[in-house]
Amino acid sequence: GAAELGPYRHYMQKEIFEQPRAIADTLEGVTSIQPELFDGADASAARVFKDIDSVLILACGTSYYSGCTAKYWLESIAKIPTQVEVASEYRYRDSVPNPRTLVVTITQSGETADTLAALRHAQSLGMTHTLTICNVATSAMVRECELAYITRAGVEIGVASTKAFTAQLAGLFLLTLALAQSRGMLSDTEEARHIKAMRHLPAALQAVLALEPQVIAWAEDFAAKENALFLGRGMHYPIALEGALKLKEISYIHAEAYPAGELKHGPLALVTSAMPVVTVAPHDALLEKLKSNMHEVRARGGVLYVLADADSKIESAEGLHVIRMPEHYGELSPMLHVVPLQLLAYHTACARGTDVDKPRNLAKSVTVE
Ligand code: G6P
Repeated sequence: GAAELGPYRHYMQKEIFEQPRAIADTLEGVTSIQPELFDGADASAARVFKDIDSVLILACGTSYYSGCTAKYWLESIAKIPTQVEVASEYRYRDSVPNPRTLVVTITQSGETADTLAALRHAQSLGMTHTLTICNVATSAMVRECELAYITRAGVEIGVASTKAFTAQLAGLFLLTLALAQSRGMLSDTEEARHIKAMRHLPAALQAVLALEPQVIAWAEDFAAKENALFLGRGMHYPIALEGALKLKEISYIHAEAYPAGELKHGPLALVTSAMPVVTVAPHDALLEKLKSNMHEVRARGGVLYVLADADSKIESAEGLHVIRMPEHYGELSPMLHVVPLQLLAYHTACARGTDVDKPRNLAKSVTVE
């Protein structure tokens, strides 16, 4: 009811603004990296982590994109080979099982039929080491997995997932550090640096939420469009995918995401002045390459909407709209960059008058196939 919404118009907006609290709660009490954080009812994570040589992530929808982001962390920080697969595909294809793989399911509800079936399929192939990142402690998924990390995003009502996604990323970053430690790849200095960055996340998220008025100005342009393209590179490519998914789900604008280096292999053909191009442009090793991708878009008359970093030299100009992120955030940057994209989808949908919390044809939790 209206009382629970407080100052917000929709649950989705409320949940976007609850992210600082969701992350603080999910990371509460974590002052060092310990495998015990992931222990299951009858299983020790320390023992399981010693027994594995790779990771297979299975999930659907927004949860799949948190898995895609985590792959970058797991391979770069924990140096563990990682595959990410859509649950509904994995369960129906012939794959090569490895009993030393840690199967990681990611699910807000813990009840998604395809993700549960994918877990059971992996178990039937002899993969017994399973871990879930899940927001519901009493769910079927938590019962059926050997290990678990329960995110504390709180109840999520908006069909389009927001706070559960960033909470999953927090859990997946912790998992990355725990696996790095177990593999002897996490020095005390690095552990302390990461813990400090994680503890600062709620304040950093708050600063990003303060960008809402600037995102509303973008949304006014987007409301009149029928297509949008999202670009990102590296670990921000899954964030571009998630931004496109949010826009599709609630505003019904057709949106696609591409890793920016692929522009020239297809999507550039779609770029005209009618095509807004959202670019996630943190100041990282790929920024110079991304800038040349942006020039390719400008040269075709495409209009750019850029999330630039505090310290990157990208200025607003004709056909180039820039929102500057408050601070540069290293490995955890995807958790901050997704927030303006959630707000963009939300305000665009509001401007188009759609049913934001209950988009047509979609359900919060898909418990049948
Ligand atoms: C549905 C929801 C999405 C969600 C997906 C996976 O499609 O509309 O928001 O990401 O299910 O749900 P899960 O509970 O497994 O994370």
